[in-house]
Formats: sequence, C-alpha cells, structure tokens
Amino acid sequence: MIEIKNLNKYYGKFHVLKNLDLNLEKGEIVALMGPNGSGKTTLMKSILGLVIPDKGEIKVNQISVKNNSSYRKIIGYMPQIANYPENLKVSELFKLIRDIRGGDDSPDKELIADFRIEEIYNKNFGQLSGGYKQRVTAAIAFMHKPSLLILDEPTSSLDPLSSEIMKSKILKEKKESNLIFVSSHIASEVELIADRIIYMLEGKIILNTLIKNIKNGATEFKLGKALKDLIDMKIKEKND
Ligand SMILES: Nc1ncnc2c1ncn2[C@@H]1O[C@H](COP(=O)(O)OP(=O)(O)OP(=O)(O)O)[C@@H](O)[C@H]1O
Ligand SMILES: [Mg+2]
Repeated sequence: MIEIKNLNKYYGKFHVLKNLDLNLEKGEIVALMGPNGSGKTTLMKSILGLVIPDKGEIKVNQISVKNNSSYRKIIGYMPQIANYPENLKVSELFKLIRDIRGGDDSPDKELIADFRIEEIYNKNFGQLSGGYKQRVTAAIAFMHKPSLLILDEPTSSLDPLSSEIMKSKILKEKKESNLIFVSSHIASEVELIADRIIYMLEGKIILNTLIKNIKNGATEFKLGKALKDLIDMKIKEKND
C-alpha cells in the first residue's frame, strides 16, 4: 500500500532521512519507534506530502505522491502537534474540515462520545488543554473512515483512561482500515496494538520485523527489553 524507495531529506545541511526504503502492506498495524529526532515525524509527513523529499519516490496505492493530492482522500492523519486555528470553536473546526473534504462525513461518533467532546463543542480550539486537543485531533483523523491511518504519537498527551480508549479504537479500526502506521515511544503500547515494528535511528530504518518474530514463542516476554537487546545488537553490527 505504501512503497518508499531511496528517500532522502535534508534540512539545510542536516541529513534527516538517509536512503530510506520501506514497503508497508495492507492489513497491518505498524509501529514506528526510535529516539527523539530520528526522523519519524519527517517520514510520516513525507508520505502525506507535507514534507517534500530531496530524493527518492513514495507511492501510495501505486500512485506517486509527487505533484498529486488525490491520494490523500483515503488518509486519516493525526499530527504529533495539532496546529488547527486557535480561534475556531471545536464545532466550527469539525465543520471546516468537513467542508474542505467536500463530503458529508461527521466526526467519529464513538470517539465524540467516549472522549466527551460534545462538552467542549463551544470552546475555542486554542483554549483546550493538550489532552483535549489530542482528543479532537483523533476525532478528525477518524472522521472519513480512512483506509490508511497515519497517527503520530496519538496517546502522548492523553490521560490513562483516554489512552486506553484510543488504543481500543485503533485495534477496532484495524478491521475497517487497511493500514495503520503509528509512532510511539511506549513499548507496552506497541506490544498491545501493533503487528510490526519499524525502528529508526538517525534517519535510517535499522529494524523492520513482525512482533511475533521477536517474541519467538516466548511466554514470558517484555517487548521493551527484547527490543533494547535487538537494537544494541544492530548498533554493534553497524559499528564493527
Ligand atoms: N522544519 C524543520 N527544520 C529544520 N529541522 C527540522 C525540521 N523538522 C524537523 N527537523 C529536524 O529533523 C530531525 C528529525 O525530526 P523529526 O521530527 O522527524 O523526529 P522524530 O523522530 O519525530 O522525533 P520525536 O520523537 O521527538 O517526535 C530532528 O533533528 C529535527 O530537529
Ligand atoms: Mg515526531
């Protein structure tokens, strides 16, 4: 569903994405992990066309994203930092997104109810707490039944209960959605929701594997520890 070949992005002289190749297939929840600044958000934004790469090609459903915006119709995106107009009421924001999209989709009813968004319909987006901004952003991402969901740290500002709501929503959506690409720093969360892990380091993918392959039949398993051992091994291989 997503094919990336030899992707390179520079910010000035700083090489952020380095000869990156990646294929993501339908039917999986794919977790994107890696240290702060490793390039996760830049990779996601490149797929969305919000960052223009210096070299390489990205295709979504066989369509090159270059000079093309129609492919975005199937994508629901939750940015890491929500930058919606501060002075719009939440209800006006939903209407604006609906008008831009040109459909008659309404925000996800389940998330509106579970995240108690109706209570803040009349508040300006800029007045909301970080967690409520993230709740609204989630309701927008799931709005038009996307077949590709790109979620950049969707639980980072949420309280524990809301975080559980978000995780079960992601798992539920797997049945509806074709591919969910989600970044996270939380190993326990990734272990619960994802099928595959991609680990980025300094603009490169150093690990791309199914979680069940890391588990390798183990009953007593902690993804965080297993992942740390694997990453340490990869870094050692690189340095040898
Ligand atoms: N607009 C920009 N201009 C200049 N440098 C940028 C810009 N956006 C990102 N960078 C740099 O690119 C690198 C990768 O940033 P990116 O946001 O993709 O990392 P990330 O893996 O998502 O990190 P985090 O875990 O903190 O979200 C960082 O060094 C960052 O400072
Ligand atoms: Mg990021």
